[in-house]
Amino acid sequence: PKAAAEDDDEDSWTAKLKSQDKKAAVFFGSQTGTAQEYALKWAKEARSKFGVSSLVLDPEQVEFNNLDRVPNSKAVVFVMASYGEGEPTDNAEAMMEFLLDEDVQFSHGGSRLDNLNYVIFGLGNTTYAKYNEVARKLDARLEELGANRIGGRGEGDEIAGSEKGYMEWKERMWSEFADRLELEAGAGADIADFSVTEIGRETDNNTYLGELSEHALKVSTGRAPARGIFDAKNPYPSPVIARELFALDGERNCVHLEFDISGTNISYSAGDHIAIWPSNPDMAVERFLSVLGLADKRDVIVDVKALDPTLAAVPFPNPSTYEAIFRNYLELSALASRQTLATLAQFAPTPQARAILERWGSDPEVYDREVDKARLRPAEALQLATGNDPSNPKDAAVWPIPLDRIISLLPRQKPRYYSISSSSKMYPTTVHVTAVVLKYQTPESKMHGDQPRWVYGMGSNFLQSVQENLRYGDLAGANTTIRLEGMPTQTPTYRLKGPRDAHVQGNVLRVPIHIRRSTFRLPANTKVPVIMIGPGTGVAPFRGFVQERVAMARSAKQRKGDAALADWGDMFLFYGCRREDEDFLYRDEWPQYAAELDGKLKIHTAFSRGPERKPDGSKIYVQDLIWNARDALVPAILHHGAFIYICGDAKSMAKEVERCLAQMLADYRGGTLEAEGYEELKNLKDKKRFQTDVWS
Ligand code: 2AM
Repeated sequence: PKAAAEDDDEDSWTAKLKSQDKKAAVFFGSQTGTAQEYALKWAKEARSKFGVSSLVLDPEQVEFNNLDRVPNSKAVVFVMASYGEGEPTDNAEAMMEFLLDEDVQFSHGGSRLDNLNYVIFGLGNTTYAKYNEVARKLDARLEELGANRIGGRGEGDEIAGSEKGYMEWKERMWSEFADRLELEAGAGADIADFSVTEIGRETDNNTYLGELSEHALKVSTGRAPARGIFDAKNPYPSPVIARELFALDGERNCVHLEFDISGTNISYSAGDHIAIWPSNPDMAVERFLSVLGLADKRDVIVDVKALDPTLAAVPFPNPSTYEAIFRNYLELSALASRQTLATLAQFAPTPQARAILERWGSDPEVYDREVDKARLRPAEALQLATGNDPSNPKDAAVWPIPLDRIISLLPRQKPRYYSISSSSKMYPTTVHVTAVVLKYQTPESKMHGDQPRWVYGMGSNFLQSVQENLRYGDLAGANTTIRLEGMPTQTPTYRLKGPRDAHVQGNVLRVPIHIRRSTFRLPANTKVPVIMIGPGTGVAPFRGFVQERVAMARSAKQRKGDAALADWGDMFLFYGCRREDEDFLYRDEWPQYAAELDGKLKIHTAFSRGPERKPDGSKIYVQDLIWNARDALVPAILHHGAFIYICGDAKSMAKEVERCLAQMLADYRGGTLEAEGYEELKNLKDKKRFQTDVWS
């Protein structure tokens, strides 16, 4: 066999590290983009601290057998998210498989990495089993292969705040990084990532006014049909129809939307997720334009170019206008991070404002109390620092922050994911979504005023606005931002009709979407019983599952006659809400489905705030009904191969339901909760017979 070539293939990443004089290669295992952001953050800090430049790379794009070619004077950085049950993200799967292989072989023929310096930071979520599994496994493996870690292994927890984990970890890591690579602190400079050029106000066919892709731009300027491959890089601007499921005292709302995918090649399965790309609410857009002094220049077109494309690509399509950038492309509603506040301090218009930002940016306790708990977004924080009133977006002192800094600091606008609530067997041309509208007040948000401030969820309030505009708005008119009587003044409104009608064509309102496949699936065999547990909007995928079997029942009856369902398995649905006559989702649909399934659908409902109570006076929840039905459920699970599904709140509901299931399995087997109960659930999970789709 040919000996391994001494020189690298000049296109390989290890060769580029050398030829472009980079000190580090930064890999991100990222599903939704968070790990990628941390990878860039790391690379930028390395540059501003030590003048070091790095290659930021997607592990999917490169080979890993040349890890043994990275010289000792450089480092490899892994920023790895764990996904679902401790699995690697799609883009890191091949890399993990390669490195974890017992017989791994590197380019020089050996399996050792004694020369390799590495840095590792994991992103995970403590409410899931196997916290930060990917980073931990990779770290242990690299150590085993002889590689040398720089600093400790960092871990961010989505629940406690990933940034907290990053900040706690980075100090020691940077100091060891400097020692190991013999770098001088202070050698770096704060270098811009982007150049921004204003190019007038005349829009043409190349100006992006909210479109998310080149394809979408061509569609909205009438240069292409709405057909193509639609995915995260090219979402489909889908026509939408919507209705309200319930609205209680303007307090709690739930909406139902249907996205029309007819005429496209988009397909989906019950259990998949739909990604919806919201725009920012008017308030947030106005606030940013005011704080940056751009309100009068909102329609000025800017051309943004990356100065070092490997480190930071422009995160949105352009040329685009200031307004479109803030309305459609940047995430304005994420909490102001410590890093953002610390960086923006230098642009403060007054010494007092600068001092406030420096304090928020440096003192974790003050930050936690005054920014995190108060749920401050970046522009609100800037308003407060200059003594302005954040409830008025136009009350703002101007901060002279260049747009390139803003683009570097703010994440790009991300889609919001929802469990699809329909079946493509019943509705092949529409995708249904069930969303409860998120708004809440935290007592701590009183911090900067007399009243606790309302916090509004981005995605669900956008959907609510879509629903209201379809119901009450004049889509043909110039303005589709509507405000209903009786709405609290802070309720977000969204401008849905763009200057180029990107979202409204004729009387059709369009919202960009794409489908994300999941592994949450019904068993193909209709004889297998299923147990579905989904209180609140957790019922969404189960409406899809039930519709799926109803659609299959219709065709089975056509083929085999009335007794077609005789040997079908039961579908147990455990559903809970507050009150039967208020927030019972799809209440009118269930009896019809049950009839078509010849009684195989068995619905158990828990109304937590209805008249009924448990003997001790406490609320009735789905787990109480599951417990009461255990004599039917346990044999279905242990003897008839039933599949179990939980969907909804991860923090308390899913945990309590799992405990209840484990307890009844343990009792039946005459064993303990830990050994027989949770162990049995784990077995079921491994066999994909116990699946969860939970969120926090
Ligand atoms: P509650 O709000 O009255 O406490 C949907 O949100 C339903 O789930 C509501 O009836 C809600 O009841 C209930 N719920 C809240 N916490 C729960 C838990 N830990 N387990 C099961 N159901 C819960």
